[in-house]
Amino acid sequence: MNDAAHEIKASLGATPASLSPKFFYDAAGSALFEKITQLPEYYPTRTEAALMQMHAPELRASIGPGVTLIEFGAGNCTKASTLCTLLEPVQFVGVDISGDFLVQSVKALQARHPRLDMHAVHADISHAVALPSAVHSARRLVFYPGSSIGNFDPDAALQLLQRMRNCVGGDGGLLIGFDLPKDPALLEAAYNDAQGVTAAFNLNILTHVNALIGSNFDLREWKHHAYFNAAESRIEMHLQAQTPTRVLWPGGERIFAKGETIHTENSYKYSAARFTALLGQAGFPTARLWTDDQAWFAVAHAQP
Ligand code: AVI
Repeated sequence: MNDAAHEIKASLGATPASLSPKFFYDAAGSALFEKITQLPEYYPTRTEAALMQMHAPELRASIGPGVTLIEFGAGNCTKASTLCTLLEPVQFVGVDISGDFLVQSVKALQARHPRLDMHAVHADISHAVALPSAVHSARRLVFYPGSSIGNFDPDAALQLLQRMRNCVGGDGGLLIGFDLPKDPALLEAAYNDAQGVTAAFNLNILTHVNALIGSNFDLREWKHHAYFNAAESRIEMHLQAQTPTRVLWPGGERIFAKGETIHTENSYKYSAARFTALLGQAGFPTARLWTDDQAWFAVAHAQP
């Protein structure tokens, strides 16, 4: 059995049931996420882009030109395109779990930056990432925008930051976005949009899981549920069974009671102080932070 199938069956069999948010991102899920980033309620993407634009000269001065830019979870590479113009890197490396989508995105990026050396690396960043030998080892800048770090539980976030620290060596850095705590009504609206795109994104994980393990999830029996858990400072996304339901896959099954949920995602909201401490623990003791005028989102340039 492959690793993904093994992981999915184990987490579906556990109580409470869960699925890792990395399984959102098949081709349909990646496209739905792109739609989410353009929703009026979903402030993180546009807030981060605006704040990076507003502080572009300071970002450039802090990082300097000529880095090897490595984007973790590169997705559609739109953020990388702006950064390539700003930073003039010598190389761009996109790393993403959604392989075909990444290859298309890097091709589109290459068309916009024809002279830049580019590589697409299909990898799961929740494990160690092996970069091709063609990737320069000097002056690496890992770029991890969008507050995706918030989708890892704090222990796993620390491990991921430590792997990034190992990846960049002593002369590199990390440019990372994180979402700040704010009015829960704003947070909950961002994950319960009026058009139902986030609901479709959440439900699509079941279609992806059906393809990966041969299960028979019927999407009509499940409902999107997202709320702010203040004690943990995180948005939680779940799928809730609308009827008692039995899900089968080759060699296994799981019976869900009506109302039982599958926990599909956490999205942690970090204060600047808490995130700076996490960076320090991961081996990035120096960090410069920028936020937008409303203090909704922050970007950090962290260095060893
Ligand atoms: C990718 N990640 C930062 C998004 C978030 O906000 O946690 C994923 C997402 N889930 C629902 N909407 C967006």
